[in-house]
Amino acid sequence: MKPCFVRRNVSAVAPLCLALLLAVAAIQSTAQTGAAPIVLTGADRRPATSLNGEWGAIVDPFFSGLFSFHHEEKRNGWFLNQKAKPGDPFPTEYDFATAPKLKVPGDWNTQRESLLYYEGPVWYERDFTYQPKPHSHVYLRIGAANYRSWFWVNGQKVCEHEGGYTAFACDVAAALHPGSNFIVAAVDNTRHEDNVPTLETDWWNYGGLIREVSLIEVPETFIDQYDLHLERGEGSVIEGWIHVMDGQPGQKVEVTIPELGAKANTTTDASGHAAIRFSVKGLERWTPEVPKLYKVGLRAGEDSIDELMGFRTIEARGTEILLNGKPIFLRGVAVHAEAPYRTGRAYSDQDAETLLGWARELGCNYVRLAHYPHDETMLRAADRMGLLVWSENPVYWALEFDNPKVLAKAEQQLDEEINTSRNHASIILWSMANETPNTPARTQFIETLASRARTLDPTRLITAALLVRSQGHTKIVDDPLGQALDVIGINEYIGWYEGHPDTADVTQWQIDYQKPLIVSEFGAGAKAGLHGAKDQRWTEEYQAEVYRHQLPMLNRIPDLRGMSPWVLMDFRSPNRPLAGIQDEFNRKGLISDQGAKKQAFYVLQTAYKDGTIGKAD
Ligand code: GCU
Repeated sequence: MKPCFVRRNVSAVAPLCLALLLAVAAIQSTAQTGAAPIVLTGADRRPATSLNGEWGAIVDPFFSGLFSFHHEEKRNGWFLNQKAKPGDPFPTEYDFATAPKLKVPGDWNTQRESLLYYEGPVWYERDFTYQPKPHSHVYLRIGAANYRSWFWVNGQKVCEHEGGYTAFACDVAAALHPGSNFIVAAVDNTRHEDNVPTLETDWWNYGGLIREVSLIEVPETFIDQYDLHLERGEGSVIEGWIHVMDGQPGQKVEVTIPELGAKANTTTDASGHAAIRFSVKGLERWTPEVPKLYKVGLRAGEDSIDELMGFRTIEARGTEILLNGKPIFLRGVAVHAEAPYRTGRAYSDQDAETLLGWARELGCNYVRLAHYPHDETMLRAADRMGLLVWSENPVYWALEFDNPKVLAKAEQQLDEEINTSRNHASIILWSMANETPNTPARTQFIETLASRARTLDPTRLITAALLVRSQGHTKIVDDPLGQALDVIGINEYIGWYEGHPDTADVTQWQIDYQKPLIVSEFGAGAKAGLHGAKDQRWTEEYQAEVYRHQLPMLNRIPDLRGMSPWVLMDFRSPNRPLAGIQDEFNRKGLISDQGAKKQAFYVLQTAYKDGTIGKAD
């Protein structure tokens, strides 16, 4: 009988073989693909075994570690971490033990000059010892891996993921051995049209295991996600939910806030969901001035999480943004996750403290974290430092908006962003997109995302950064996408991409929405230390002049409730080749990547500190 495993014409095979083939395919696919990753809320608050550090790394531009010469997925790929043995009847052409190292977390581009421009697959391997406990799950938690990634433990596929800026976790308990183990990862940052983001971005495509990697052990029944927030209104009612994985209906769940002497008990329903609602006394609401954080204990059976979080309300009323029921003006700046001084993808507490410290020094009470979900370290720092946050899904410029697969990818990334970061008091805005073309397919795509975000989290405001159109010196804000938003974000570059600094003086604004408006971007490029006439582009004087004319113009926009000039710090971008000036950096920073403050920094700082910009109501 012909062997069942005939790859090319399945239809010719007898029904028995077909059933066998499908069964094998199912096993292989799970074995081949591993279980779908999950999102663990508050994972960074759980005890973990860190896998950070030096990993053996092999650059594999043709992905020959995974695909054969006929582009079939290999069974004996590099994920097996095989070691050559004397007498082997075949050559082993890779060895992670002797391979050069790469640090994790970290992008590969800034770790090796030869990899600065590299886009493609890179393999990572490291050994570790582990003593798995009985009756427990062990999750491999990845802070982020840009862009596509595959993971094997002891040669067994545990999961794969697409999306470069959100965290995910894969159950590896079944693949672990007591004692020595090894993990192999393949990460590929190749850009594709149907990716999210797509081919063009104005930031460097830093690849790799760009955020923390760890093992998190949880009991068989555990809390995977939860949401706790203050109910809108005058009172002090905390509400939300806790979801227990693999639990029985009626599982006891407890929330405590020791500092307030508060405790709530409830039980899960058949889906593992437990609704939470309880009153507290003496709660101090989180504000930028007093970013009060409380220790919050969550417990379900053997599992527990010690959260640290603040409680505040955020809402829109007419054209106002209300924080804790009071109108607020968002004095902000836009921030890329570019590491200060060393450059590369930011990931550490120090990176966050430095960047947000500068925003604080500028007089900000708000930051726009662009254009993708930033690291939990940044959000924890914003909670601590009292900075309100605009968090963004990387739907950037012209995605394939009519491609349902692309929508599914954007939805997955949105789910991961919100389910990972929903308990940060600092986050007040979920941004669905940046500078997308005004087409019906685009509008429908983002309306779908916006309603998904509202279902996932009805406690925050939904926004997006829109393009504006011009008629003469009138700027018109009428992008139909605005209807789907709670807060309108607009990007404009008067004085840089269009006109001169004083063009702002004659610019009128026509805003076709009765909603709070944020100018999510404006700015100009300047090389730190380059000085000259104020009409000489690239000088600090020119940039400062743009700010001097922008601020009074912005003050003339009636419903302006916030702003985040582009950008806090210069950042690497492949679109910026001007030698001696840009050198592959976007130079619109108010501070250079080496920490040099430009004149415009002080122009904005004065306006923020003197309160000459912006009206809360
Ligand atoms: C755009 C875009 C940014 C970009 C900026 C610029 O508005 O949103 O990502 O960096 O303009 O051109 O500097």
